[in-house]
Amino acid sequence: MRDAEAAASRSADAASRASEAGQRPADRAAEQAARATSPKAADLTQPAATGAAPGPVVPRHVAIIMDGNGRWAQARGLARIRGHEHGIESVRAVTRRAAALGVGQLTLFAFSTENWKRPKSEIAFLMHLLRKFLVDERKELMENDIRLRSVGRIEGLPKDVQRALARTQEMTAENRGTTLCLALNYGARLELADAAKRLAEDAAAGRIDLAALDDTGLEAALGARLYQPEMPDVDLLVRTAGEQRLSNFLLWQMSYGELHVTDVAWPEFREDDFDRALQDYATRTRSFGGLLQR
Ligand code: FPP
Repeated sequence: MRDAEAAASRSADAASRASEAGQRPADRAAEQAARATSPKAADLTQPAATGAAPGPVVPRHVAIIMDGNGRWAQARGLARIRGHEHGIESVRAVTRRAAALGVGQLTLFAFSTENWKRPKSEIAFLMHLLRKFLVDERKELMENDIRLRSVGRIEGLPKDVQRALARTQEMTAENRGTTLCLALNYGARLELADAAKRLAEDAAAGRIDLAALDDTGLEAALGARLYQPEMPDVDLLVRTAGEQRLSNFLLWQMSYGELHVTDVAWPEFREDDFDRALQDYATRTRSFGGLLQR
């Protein structure tokens, strides 16, 4: 699994290949054409040829907004839930690919705090799918050294989902490959509000002296009270089905994340699409607000 990562030190021109393969298709037709020229795994582990921003080409943390399930199903005359069901195959394919490429963490937006507004039947089906996934995937996660984690207000999920989640997390806790993190009952504003509340409580109880902190210390104090404080910043956020927004996902962790939007709907998103997102990422220049080292 780490072979690909080890190959990352070899020099090559992923960036020029990336542009030849058309990573930023202007429309669906271009994207389809690009799909025909999918890169091999090794291509993704080469440093970009821009020379502008040295750094790991395989992102440490990829997050995905898995959008377009309902539209995909409706366009085929199917019930919306069939899109979610089909989307599980994409989850499997992308998780396996991320693990094979040595991506440190893959975070999937599986259920937002706003998703409770959906019809009861759709919510029930999503919870059923989730529980089934958590049980069915145990063998695959173990075989691929993948650790399962979650982020969100887990206590708000149905009890049977909580139990399945706890068991799968426990079983995979010692795995050292990719971390698959499911964002469940998650909303970024609520995460920040919860963190601010905890910080205020700790200050009121005298456990922390806010006045003594400098700016860096203050940021660290809030960051330490997020749902999963050790979560690395997002390097690459992929959104499927064309919308260009963050939708209340990982706002803190996305501060300097790169964004890749594709028109491909989540139920159709597969390894090739993931590879193209990573190739696109490899062409980006990241200065984090400073100046590039040349
Ligand atoms: C957005 O599509 C997708 C969701 C709200 C749920 C995503 C869930 C899955 C892919 C299945 C469960 C996941 C795991 C990890 C087991 P949408 O329904 O909003 O699509 P639309 O915009 O076309 O209506």
